[in-house]
Formats: sequence, C-alpha cells, structure tokens
Amino acid sequence: MVPRNIILIGFMGTGKSTVGQKIADSLDFEFVDTDSLVVEMAGKPITQIFEEQGEPAFRDLETKALEQAADGQHRVISTGGGIILRSENRALLHGHGFCVWLRAKPETVYERTCANNERPLLQGESPRDTIERLLAERDSLYRQTAHFNVRTDDLVVEDISYGICESASVFFQKQDG
Ligand code: S3P
Repeated sequence: MVPRNIILIGFMGTGKSTVGQKIADSLDFEFVDTDSLVVEMAGKPITQIFEEQGEPAFRDLETKALEQAADGQHRVISTGGGIILRSENRALLHGHGFCVWLRAKPETVYERTCANNERPLLQGESPRDTIERLLAERDSLYRQTAHFNVRTDDLVVEDISYGICESASVFFQKQDG
C-alpha cells in the first residue's frame, strides 16, 4: 500500500513549495521540503554546499532528506528539481505517496527563476540554454516517476492545489479498493 502522502516533483520554478504548502494547509497534512531538510542537515545554504562540497555531496544529502521525508504518513513532500536523477530516489518517490509532476515551459521557468540567485545550476552564462537542456534531459525521468502531471503555466496556485487534492483522493480511494 502506498502511504497517504502527496509528493511533488518537477523542475526548478514550477511552484512545488508554494503549491505544496497550500495543499498541506487545505488537507491539514504536514509540509516537508527536501531542500529545507538538506540545508538543516548541512547547516549551510544550498549554494554553499555546491561551492564547498560539490553537486555529488548535495545529491547524497538530498537522498538522506528524501528517506527521512518519506518515512511517514499524511505529509505533503516538496522536492528539489534534480531529485529524480537517482534511481533509488525515483523508487522512493513513486512508492511513498501520490507523486505529482508539476510542469512548466522553459520560458515560464526562466521568468520565475531569473531574479533569484539561490539556484547554483542556473548561475552560469546562459541560464535559458541550461533550462532547456536540463528540462530535455530530465523529462523522461519525471514522466516515469509521477502518477499524475499538471501543466502550471497558466494556472494559479489555488487551481493547481485543488486539482491535485481531487486526483489524490481518487488515487487513494482506488487503492483502498
Ligand atoms: C536543483 C533544484 C533546486 C535545488 C538545487 C538543485 C536541481 O531545488 O535542489 O539547487 O538540480 O534542479 P528547486 O527545484 O526547489 O529550485
């Protein structure tokens, strides 16, 4: 039986944290964010982890954070955009709740992320190209991990959250048989 959690995956800037917090408030579930858990474990911001220890060290912490987050019930778990890169993470994400992929077009991602310098992977010369490349590389991983997906480009947080709650309820009802 898949535990009663709602797990949000998707690229940077697709609204996972905002939507996750909203769903958690509506359902009275606990909100857990793997990026925040990583920052707590490391005692420093994500940019500093990347700078001082490199991306592989960040990915190790991210897997630990996910294991911790997935070990419970009645949670809404928001995740970092690259969490689907490891197959062990994909198995945890798919098997520990209703897993939803929040999608957005590259232009939308760029608009939502360009003013923020807290995402080390988008700090290079041409963030637009990086967004297109990473989205293309990751697309099939998000697709194979999620039970459901939502295109967020033209929707407000309330509508996205409502749609996910309705679909989660159908998913868990089916599971209860
Ligand atoms: C990353 C996404 C970030 C954060 C880190 C790496 C990625 O999270 O985990 O900067 O690889 O896509 P958000 O998706 O919450 O921005």
